[in-house]
Amino acid sequence: MAVKICVASGKGGTGKTSISSGIACCLAGLGYRVVVLDGDIGLRNLDLALGLNERAIFDFYDVILGRATLKQALVPHDNIENLHLLAAPFGTELPDVTKEQMSDLIASIDEICDYCIIDCPAGIGSWIDTIASVSDRALMVATPDNTSLRDAGVTRKFLKARGVSDIRLILNRVRPKLINKMNAVNIDDAIDFTGIQLIGIVPEDQTVIACANKGDPVVFHMNSYAARAYRNIARRVVGMRVPLMKIPRKTV
Ligand SMILES: Nc1ncnc2c1ncn2[C@@H]1O[C@H](COP(=O)(O)OP(=O)(O)OP(=O)(O)O)[C@@H](O)[C@H]1O
Ligand SMILES: [Mg+2]
Repeated sequence: MAVKICVASGKGGTGKTSISSGIACCLAGLGYRVVVLDGDIGLRNLDLALGLNERAIFDFYDVILGRATLKQALVPHDNIENLHLLAAPFGTELPDVTKEQMSDLIASIDEICDYCIIDCPAGIGSWIDTIASVSDRALMVATPDNTSLRDAGVTRKFLKARGVSDIRLILNRVRPKLINKMNAVNIDDAIDFTGIQLIGIVPEDQTVIACANKGDPVVFHMNSYAARAYRNIARRVVGMRVPLMKIPRKTV
C-alpha cells in the first residue's frame, strides 16, 4: 500500500508544485517507487516542472473514464528511475470528479508505488475535500508572511476535519535577511501561527525559478539550497531524523 500525501496550501503560489516535484524526485532517489499526481485540474503545471509536458498525452481523468489505462497515462521520468507522473486534465472544461472515482483511481495507484504525492490547487472546497478523502497525510506549504500563514491555518482545519490528521508545515522561500530585519515572520512564529508542526524549510533560491522555466528538476542541481532542502524533507517524510538546514545569512 502506498502512502498518499497531498501537498496543499491556503494561498496560491506558495510553492506546492515546486515542492511536490522536488520531494517526489528525492523520494524516488531514495529508492522508493513514486507516483506524483497533478491534482490541479484545469491549471496543471507539474508536467512542466518535471520537463514531461511533451509526453503527458493522457491524464488521470482519461484513466477514470477508461479512455486510457493507468499504464498508458503514467509518464516515467527519463532520468529518474522509479518516478512516474500522472497528469491532470487541463483547459477550461473542468471535469467533476467524484469521491468514488478518485478512490478507485487511487486504489489502482496504491498497487504500483510506495508514495503517491498529490499536488493540490490552492485553497479549500469540494475538490480538496475529495483529495482529502484519499490522503493519509498532508504537507502544508506556506511562505513566511501573515496572509499565507493564516490561510495555511484555515486549510489545516479543513483537512483535519476531513480526517487528515498527519499534517506538516513546509515554510518555503525563507529569507533570513528579511527575518532578521523583522520584515518576514520567523520560523517559530510561523509554527505558532498555523498550529502545524514543521517538517522543513526551503530557502528562497533562484535555482527553483530557473529550473521551473527549463523543465529541469531542481534535484539535479545537487548543491543548490532548494535541492538540499527537498532532500532533507524527503528523508523526514520516510522517517529519517535530519537536522534543520542552516541557511547562511549572506545568501538571501
Ligand atoms: N524556494 C523558492 N525560491 C524561489 N522561487 C520559488 C521557490 N519556490 C517556488 N518558487 C517560485 O514561485 C512560483 C510559484 O511556485 P509554484 O508554482 O510551485 O507554486 P504553487 O503553490 O504550486 O502555485 P499554485 O497555487 O498556482 O498552484 C514559481 O515561479 C516558482 O518558481
Ligand atoms: Mg501549483
